[in-house]
Amino acid sequence: MPVPESGAEPQTAAQTRFDHTLARDQRIEPRDWMPEGYRATLVRQIAQHAHSEIIGMQPEGEWITRAPSLRRKAILFAKVQDEAGHGLYLYSAAETLGADRADLTERLISGRQKYSSIFNYPTLSYADVGVIGWFVDGAAICNQVPLCRSSYGPYARAMVRICKEESFHQRQGYELLLTMMRGSEKQRAQVQDAVDRWWWPSLMMFGPPDGNSPNSERSMAWRIKRHSNDELRQRFVDMTVPQAERLGVTLPDPELVWNEEREVWDFGTPDWSELQRVISGDGPCNQARVERRRQAHEDGAWVREAAAAHAARQQDRQAAQDQQAAQDRQTAQTAQLKGVPA
Ligand SMILES: [Fe+2]
Ligand SMILES: [Fe+2]
Repeated sequence: MPVPESGAEPQTAAQTRFDHTLARDQRIEPRDWMPEGYRATLVRQIAQHAHSEIIGMQPEGEWITRAPSLRRKAILFAKVQDEAGHGLYLYSAAETLGADRADLTERLISGRQKYSSIFNYPTLSYADVGVIGWFVDGAAICNQVPLCRSSYGPYARAMVRICKEESFHQRQGYELLLTMMRGSEKQRAQVQDAVDRWWWPSLMMFGPPDGNSPNSERSMAWRIKRHSNDELRQRFVDMTVPQAERLGVTLPDPELVWNEEREVWDFGTPDWSELQRVISGDGPCNQARVERRRQAHEDGAWVREAAAAHAARQQDRQAAQDQQAAQDRQTAQTAQLKGVPA
């Protein structure tokens, strides 16, 4: 009987275990063996997701100082801060796969890793804050609710918390728009203008059409992703159309019509060449977004240094305490052996 090459047998057993875990719809955890392609795909997807949360703070963050009331300012502040938190959970999830956070940030600001195309569009009025909450956070919910059942444990668990916050974001956006629609003619016009500008880019957030999405199939086989880009886009349209009717705005798509037979809304085709342009760096705000992120990273260097120095000092202090405790125990034991009261 031939002796198996060293390493060949355990690798096969590990692959079988991995396949069974997926087939049983259970989670892969950081300690488990996983194929290199699975790990690399997850790192890429989670990093891109984390970058989107962090860059996504910018378009709305620009309006914090110009919010129309203290209440709106407090809400917007909380929302933008939530997005920072989402970025942090996700960078932590990427770290469980062996990725280095400093390296991921470097890849973002050098343009080697992407973030969602939607954040390369400008926010021109306060109505944009509402429409981003309604459309962009709404699209994020469609995308992310299925990710709560993603096969990689840390990613799935991060998503559960993130989704709860995204649904608050969507509601605050919609509530802001309802308020503006009850206001002046000018405010209603601002809402409609923001809807016109953000509708198509929001549909593009789900990525290219299924026939043109090279990584989707593999991600679905690995159960990282549960639904195709087109399925999620349809779900978003079906969810949003009745909300637009209730709000009293028109979605800028003449081809939007209820399909009796399929019981879904048929809709027009987004301009895929625009998505391609924006993804490849030529959107209205790409340069400004990345430059702002690079600047913020440089400005934060002293904070990272101080935090690292603090952590090192804490560690030294803890080590000294542990050493002292061990010595005390030793002295007490020696004293006991000699019959001397400690
Ligand atoms: Fe978020
Ligand atoms: Fe959000």
